[in-house]
Amino acid sequence: MKFFIDSANLQLIKKFLYMGIVDGITTNPSLLAKEGANPIEQAKKILKLVPGPVSVEVVATDYEGMIKEAKAISQLAKNVVVKIPMTKDGIHAVKTLSMEGIKTNVTLVFSANQALIAAKAGATYVSPFVGRLDDMGNNGMEVVRDMVQIFRNYGIKTQVLVASIRHPIHILEAARLGADVATIPPDVLEKMFNHALTDAGLEKFLDDWKTLEKKYGDVFKT
Ligand code: E4P
Repeated sequence: MKFFIDSANLQLIKKFLYMGIVDGITTNPSLLAKEGANPIEQAKKILKLVPGPVSVEVVATDYEGMIKEAKAISQLAKNVVVKIPMTKDGIHAVKTLSMEGIKTNVTLVFSANQALIAAKAGATYVSPFVGRLDDMGNNGMEVVRDMVQIFRNYGIKTQVLVASIRHPIHILEAARLGADVATIPPDVLEKMFNHALTDAGLEKFLDDWKTLEKKYGDVFKT
């Protein structure tokens, strides 16, 4: 499963990027607004920093407006993915863009039927918002399960990009279901590293090694 980071913050992206475990980035208007900078300038910085796909969303709601914005976004860099909302105009735009070879990510997806429509239009990615479904008392992962199954049934190439992730269990469930991508908020990725037994185990190993060093000195010294 690919790991994307769900953030428009350069410092937070850098915090994980250097390790080589980040495959891409997703942004949305709210994440860019949080940074306060000119959103296109901020997107350009992210696109330059990250070698993988970076989603940047249109804000027009009509077909013509979406196409105009999508074309401008697609010019920003080779690794850009145009994020389009799951509306009728949005799906029409995705069809046009996919025929022109422009990569798209259909966002605000809350049902497997919506995902099926997005795939039919040629979306590169489809983003089910699991956390927002859970918040409403629904089971977001059931929607992911259906999508993965349906896409498998028909050999659909559109990738399931699990979004609106709230905690590490969401990642685990997405991976169990075989989702293609999880876009992970930085605080959740941080939590995925942690385990009390790792910390305790390392402390003990290092203590025991110190007793050997007392006897033999620095054994790695050449
Ligand atoms: C990413 O593509 C989505 O826009 C994001 O995951 C939404 O997350 P939220 O529901 O926490 O705002």
